[in-house]
Amino acid sequence: MRGWRSNRFLAQACLRGGGAAAYPSRMTAPSSAAAMSETTLPDEPLALSAPLARAFAATLCHVDPRHGGSCAWYHGLWQYLRLFDFVTTPRDHAAFYRAALLEPLRAGARRVLISGTADYALPACLLWLYRSAGVPVEMTVLDICRTPLRLCEWFADRIDTPIATVAQDILEYRPVEAFDIICTHAFLGRFQPAERAALIARWHSLLRPGGRVVTVNRIRPDAPETVRFTAEQSARFVERIRQAAQRAEPPLDLSADTLVAMAQAYVAAKRTVPLRSTDELVAMFEGAGFRIEQLAVGAVEARTLRAPAGPTMSGGAQYARIVAVRT
Ligand SMILES: C[S@@+](CC[C@H](N)C(=O)[O-])C[C@H]1O[C@@H](n2cnc3c(N)ncnc32)[C@H](O)[C@@H]1O
Repeated sequence: MRGWRSNRFLAQACLRGGGAAAYPSRMTAPSSAAAMSETTLPDEPLALSAPLARAFAATLCHVDPRHGGSCAWYHGLWQYLRLFDFVTTPRDHAAFYRAALLEPLRAGARRVLISGTADYALPACLLWLYRSAGVPVEMTVLDICRTPLRLCEWFADRIDTPIATVAQDILEYRPVEAFDIICTHAFLGRFQPAERAALIARWHSLLRPGGRVVTVNRIRPDAPETVRFTAEQSARFVERIRQAAQRAEPPLDLSADTLVAMAQAYVAAKRTVPLRSTDELVAMFEGAGFRIEQLAVGAVEARTLRAPAGPTMSGGAQYARIVAVRT
């Protein structure tokens, strides 16, 4: 059976005009489900989806009514950051998601909600997990912004797997049927501390009793209230983007100057509200009616020595991996 092809291959196929037809239409299973890890997860078609994300972002990105700005600076650039291997993503935690989900999915957990996703990385990881275990899945991907949802639809179409997408604020989401599993990656940092209790309460009401939240969040014990790029980090980030764009082989679909302008907008806008401690997390989940089944903290090493420093950049950060069961 063929696996997914490398990004480099896909980029070349795309430039040669192979495009979608060059990409295998179905995912294939690894030789052993137990062997699944970041290294056995199929490569993603980033060279194809990065230009798509940029195009989608220009028209689809969510406009925040509070200030009238959109998130195109984020969703339009994110896939290029992944193409350069600069950022940490759900793929870095694939082994955790697999370990946390294998038993529930074998026991019949089918209805999965992805609560916010920058692109198709987390759906791809979970779809691969279900398929490699030979178990069917009903996946709903929710995000407040249409751009990542459109990317997920594009990806799901390519691998011939149905998914449902919902463009809504998670705090307002009221589906008819409950979920068995909610998965997220680095989602809590999108919410102010005062909003997090409402988020976790919403997750609770979206799950059936015994259902679970499986999530990963960066822990920053000494961080200020809001984490943003420092002036020095911004300058380095923009410079690394320029170098990566100039050296890209095969060449990117856009000029280095255009990507640099996108990088400048990104560092100016990027903000994260850090989680300081696992105690804070445990208290929030337990307070909302969850039992903590698993909590581990560990580092994710830099994906590449070229990765610049800054919020969500890869390299040495500590992540809490949590499984919380609805009581
Ligand atoms: C899940 S977080 C972090 C992304 C993560 N690093 C990844 O690789 O997928 C980012 C996503 O959350 C979404 N988001 C932020 N606030 C939201 C809300 N209130 N409801 C639903 N989605 C939200 C954003 O649109 C964005 O796509």
